[in-house]
Amino acid sequence: MAKAENEIQSMLSKGMDPKELPWYEPTIDEIPEPAKTILENYSKIPSDRVLQHVVDVIDVLKWVIQRERAYSVFPYPCIGSFRFLDLSIPQSPVYAEVLQRLKSGEKLLDVGCAIGQELRQLVYDGVPSENIYASDLRRDFFDIGYDLFADHETLNCNFIVADIFDSDSELVKKLTGKVSIVNAASFFHLFPWDKQVEAIKRVVTLLRPEPGSLLIGRQAGRTDPEDPDDKENAPGNYRHDLATWKRMWEQVERETGTRWQVDSWREDWQGVDKGFDKYHANVESFKLRFVVRKL
Ligand SMILES: C[S@@+](CC[C@H](N)C(=O)[O-])C[C@H]1O[C@@H](n2cnc3c(N)ncnc32)[C@H](O)[C@@H]1O
Repeated sequence: MAKAENEIQSMLSKGMDPKELPWYEPTIDEIPEPAKTILENYSKIPSDRVLQHVVDVIDVLKWVIQRERAYSVFPYPCIGSFRFLDLSIPQSPVYAEVLQRLKSGEKLLDVGCAIGQELRQLVYDGVPSENIYASDLRRDFFDIGYDLFADHETLNCNFIVADIFDSDSELVKKLTGKVSIVNAASFFHLFPWDKQVEAIKRVVTLLRPEPGSLLIGRQAGRTDPEDPDDKENAPGNYRHDLATWKRMWEQVERETGTRWQVDSWREDWQGVDKGFDKYHANVESFKLRFVVRKL
């Protein structure tokens, strides 16, 4: 089972090299789509290297150097295994709707955005960057994202450093009731059940209180998840199957007095994600995708 953040912090404080964590991959064979297109057309990285599917050693090294910086901020599997190149937003079945709404002036928040790869896809697909908000606990990730996508001078997204659990944060002050769409990729699964409920309730209050507000995203799921009622053995990072995810939303509905249509489904780990199983020993894991719409 992947380790909770505090366990990893404790191992690192005892001197463990983050490269020894099981999800660390020293390099990558090719840049997957659509990240490759974003780098080619948005970041203007010379196209011949990308188009010809040639692994230019220097270029890959540049990527690794950038990634090393991100990995040293905190060694998340999504950084250590290059999973941040698996863009989540464009694979959503509601992506066309998301684009149309954002182009019409509605606002999106990418919560726990890390280096912000999803934002670049949205801007590349024509969304005015002013309509995009992104938040994370760690500002360093924002800076690494600017370097990686070479858009210091051009990107006008609104980055907010905030802890999702802080009710007095800039995020809460600026965006409560203001965003129409929240994207949460590899985010809720970082927390135990009760904290996931708290984080989702925060998302509920950030979203505009009207039908059609959307939460989209993906996270690690697993078969045979722990019993949510077994508080004594509650895992530090709860992984859902489709039933427990739905059950969590029923709890959110009861506790917030709101109603949501919860669509979720399983997908296999592929591409940069294909090594995902190896650090989830003895657990059948899958990618849990979701679209949750306010009724
Ligand atoms: C596993 S990464 C996922 C990053 C990105 N969404 C992706 O899919 O590549 C989780 C992100 O959540 C951020 N995070 C962790 N705890 C948080 C909290 N309490 N509030 C806000 N962000 C948090 C981390 O700093 C990290 O960037």
